[in-house]
This record gives sequence, structure tokens and C-alpha cells, in this order.
Amino acid sequence: MRHLLSVADLDADSATALLDEAQRFEEALRGREIRKLPTLRGRTVMTVFYENSTRTRVSFEVAGKWMSADVINVSASSSSVNKGESLRDTAKTLYAAGADALIVRHPASGAAHQIAAWTDDNGRGPAVINAGDGTHEHPTQALLDALTLRQRLGSLTGRRIAIVGDILHSRVARSNALLLRTLGADVVLVAPPTLLPVGVSQWPVEVSHDLDTILPTVDAVMMLRVQAERMNGGFFPSSREYSVRYGLSERRAGLLRDDAVVLHPGPMLRGMEIGFSVADSPRAAILAQVTNGVHVRMAVLFGLLVGTENGGAV
Ligand code: CP
Repeated sequence: MRHLLSVADLDADSATALLDEAQRFEEALRGREIRKLPTLRGRTVMTVFYENSTRTRVSFEVAGKWMSADVINVSASSSSVNKGESLRDTAKTLYAAGADALIVRHPASGAAHQIAAWTDDNGRGPAVINAGDGTHEHPTQALLDALTLRQRLGSLTGRRIAIVGDILHSRVARSNALLLRTLGADVVLVAPPTLLPVGVSQWPVEVSHDLDTILPTVDAVMMLRVQAERMNGGFFPSSREYSVRYGLSERRAGLLRDDAVVLHPGPMLRGMEIGFSVADSPRAAILAQVTNGVHVRMAVLFGLLVGTENGGAV
């Protein structure tokens, strides 16, 4: 695999191999005072973010640094993008400056695919990783969510996972629905009709508008962020109605089975999408998701820049 642009690039075997590698990174580094491996020494990794991020950008940077790569962070707001430079010229410039990997977040769906094509250079160009493109995909988020679920639930085969909220604008929902199905889980999307995409009937999932009836039936529930910035100022239902019908309140969390897991990709809107104490409860795996994000991104960078033909990194 040259790039990671979509979870559709992964079959069950390759996704499981990445999760296994991420788990090995976690175990190899656990409890270590100095977390530094020589794995990517001499490689240059660049993050190029045209949208805000805390978790994804930081965890890619930590992942690269823990493997001794040189990591350069390019933010659109402080780069020549602000002087009108195009995405194509920016990508080709970063390749010319020595990028072995470009990690891209952009508001336009398909931006990472475009960059991979523009910088291909007859197969010599950088590995491109999609760190979130518009409403399309966020493949490393789906991988870290799968790793977190696997740690809590064991095998995902036959597990039932609910993804709840603003499915329409969520690249996290799309990547998760595809990857969870690839790994053998059953997915139910729960959302108001106004926050479901056209064509959702083609997705390999069940759809519901009634969170209370779904919660007792699932092994895990993944709450989504309401993406107001993609709604052009309009939000229907209102935030109050959304919270009442689709928020995972303390009362509603009581409908879950005792061993059911709560996920949220972050950033969370506490009090609207998820109750304050639910987010901090023992069933919530939200900070474990962040930690797993570092190990998953180590596995992805290692797989793309070194390859696993001669065995794993650790
Ligand atoms: N989950 C996620 O993508 O978070 P950030 O926007 O903080 O990177």
C-alpha cells in the first residue's frame, strides 16, 4: 500500500495487521521512561492541516517523533496558503522540500486523493495519509476506534455498534461504518432524518431515529460531534431538541448494557452530545481512543514508509 486515503484501501487482513502492529507498539512502549525507537530515523514526515485539529495533528507528530522521524508541521494559517498559494503548488513544494510522508487534513472531500495524484512522481512521491477530508473519510480515526473496541470487546465479529448523531457531515461515521463492517461488526446509525446523507440506504448498515430503543441492544455506542461549521448557520433540529432526542444523557446511558462501551472521537460538546459524567464514566473509552491514536498512527507510518515485508517494527 502506497497511501492511506480511505478505509476502502483496507481489507480485513490488512486492517487487522495494522491493528496488531499498533498493539505491539503500545506494548513495546508501555511503562518506558524514554519512548524513542529508531524505526524512522532519517525520514521526513510533514503534517499539512487546512482545518483545526488537536488529537489528529498532535498524535501524528508524537507518532513520528517516537519513531525518530523528523516531523514538520505546516498549518494553512501560517503558510503561504494565506498568500493565495494553491493546494497543488503547496503539495508539490512540500515534496520538493523533502517530504517522505504528507499527512493532510482539508475541508474538501477528495483533497488527499488529489495530492497523492499530484505528487506521485512515477511512484517516487511521498506517502499520503488522509487525516480527514471534508465529509468524506478519516481512516486513521476508524482504525483507532477499532483498536479501542477490540481492546474492550475482543473480536469485533458479530458485535453490534451504534454510531449516533450528525452522520451527514461526519467523515468519522463513514470511515467507521465501512471499517467496522470489514471487521465483521454490525452497524446501526442513529440520527435525525435531517442529519443523514442522501444515499445512506446504500451503506451496509441499519438506520434508526430512536436512540432509546437501540441503546439496550448494542455492545458499543459511538457519539459524534455536531459539525455546526458545516451547516451554513442552520441547524435542524435545534441544539436543545438534538440534546433531548440524541444526546447520551446520564439517564439514557442507564439503558446500555453493563459492559457496553461509550466512544466519542472528540472534540466533545458536553451537555449536548454526551452527559458530563457519562464522558468521564468507566464505560467511556474516550481518552483510550486518544492514546490508541498515537499507536495506530505509528503503525500506519511504519507500514507506509518501511513496510512490513520483513516483519513488524517491534
Ligand atoms: N477526532 C479528531 O479528528 O479530532 P481532532 O479534530 O482534534 O483532530
